[in-house]
Amino acid sequence: MKFPGSHILSMAQFERRDIEQVFTVADRMEPYAHRRRITKVLDGAILGSMFFESSTRTRVSFGCAFNLLGGEVRETTGFEATSLTKGESLHDTARVLSGYSDVIVMRHPQAGSVAEFAAASRVPVINGGDGANEHPSQALLDLYTIQKELKHQGREGIDGLSIGMIGDLKYGRTVHSLCKLLTLFNNVTVTLISPDELRMPPEIVEQLRSAGHRVVESDNMEQSLSHVDIAYATRIQAERFANAEEAMLYRGRYRLNQAVYTQYCQPNTVIMHPLPRDSRAEANELDNDLNDNPNLAIFRQADNGILVRMALFALILDVVEQVDTHARDVNWYTERRF
Ligand code: CP
Repeated sequence: MKFPGSHILSMAQFERRDIEQVFTVADRMEPYAHRRRITKVLDGAILGSMFFESSTRTRVSFGCAFNLLGGEVRETTGFEATSLTKGESLHDTARVLSGYSDVIVMRHPQAGSVAEFAAASRVPVINGGDGANEHPSQALLDLYTIQKELKHQGREGIDGLSIGMIGDLKYGRTVHSLCKLLTLFNNVTVTLISPDELRMPPEIVEQLRSAGHRVVESDNMEQSLSHVDIAYATRIQAERFANAEEAMLYRGRYRLNQAVYTQYCQPNTVIMHPLPRDSRAEANELDNDLNDNPNLAIFRQADNGILVRMALFALILDVVEQVDTHARDVNWYTERRF
C-alpha cells in the first residue's frame, strides 16, 4: 500500500510487506519512545484526536506518539463535547475538523462510522476503533508484540504460530483485526475460545481458513491452551450488549490465573490482552496473580503501542527519513525501568 496520505481503516488494506515496513519503522522509533532522543520532525503539525467512546491507551498513546514526533494534539472526547449532539452529521464534522488538522484519529461506537467520516475528510484518518468492527492499530501493535516476545524466546517470525483467543470474540474488535492480520502469514493455528453465543463472526473464521490456517473453536479454555504460543485474553464487551444483565451471563466465564497457567499452558506461553482487563471480582479474566509472571506481556504490549503509532504517523505523513535529521539528545534524566 502507499502510506503517504492514506487512511488506516481496516487490516484488509495491508499486505505482508506493509506490515514489515510498519515494524521496521517502529523499531527505528525506539530512541524517541524511550526518551533518549527528541525529534521535531512534525513541528507545526496538528493531530485531531476524536474519541466518542471511552479510551485510555489508544487515545493517550496516539497523542503521545504525535507529541514525540514534535506535533501538537487537539482533542475532543465524548459526543456531549461536540456539535454531533445538535444533529451535525459525520460528513460535516469531518469537513470542518479536517480543515483544522493534518491527520485525525477517531473512535466511535458504530461499526463503519470511521470509514464514513474518512470519506468526507480532507486529511488522513486512522480508525481508533469503530464499534465491534475493527481496531487496526491495536492489531499492528499486537503482532509487533508477538514478534518481539517470540524473538526473545529465540523464535523468528509469525509463520507457524499457534495462538489462542479467549473471551468475547463476537464483539471484540481487536481480535477481529488481529485475525485479519494473521491471514497474511502462513500455517497459523488459531484456537477460538468463547461461549457459543460469543463466537468469532463466521466470515472472519472463513477468512482464516481461506488463508490455509487451522481454526479450532471451543468453549473450554483449560483444555484448549496446552499448545498455544500466545494466550490472548479479551474482556466481555459489556457496552455492546443490549443490556447489562446479558453481559453478566458471560463475565467471569473464563479466568486465566497463575494456577490455570501452571497446569495447562506451556512454561513459555506468552500472555497477552489488549487491555483494559476487567479486574472486578465478577469478571477477573486475567488475574493479578499473573503480574509477576515474566510471560505476562500486557504492559510491554501497551508500551509497543507508542512505537507502532509513531511509525504510522511517520509513514502516513511521509517523514520517516527525516525523523533522525530533526533530532537531538534529551536534556533531562531519562532512566526508566522497562
Ligand atoms: N486497547 C484499547 O483499545 O484500550 P483503550 O480502550 O483504553 O484505548
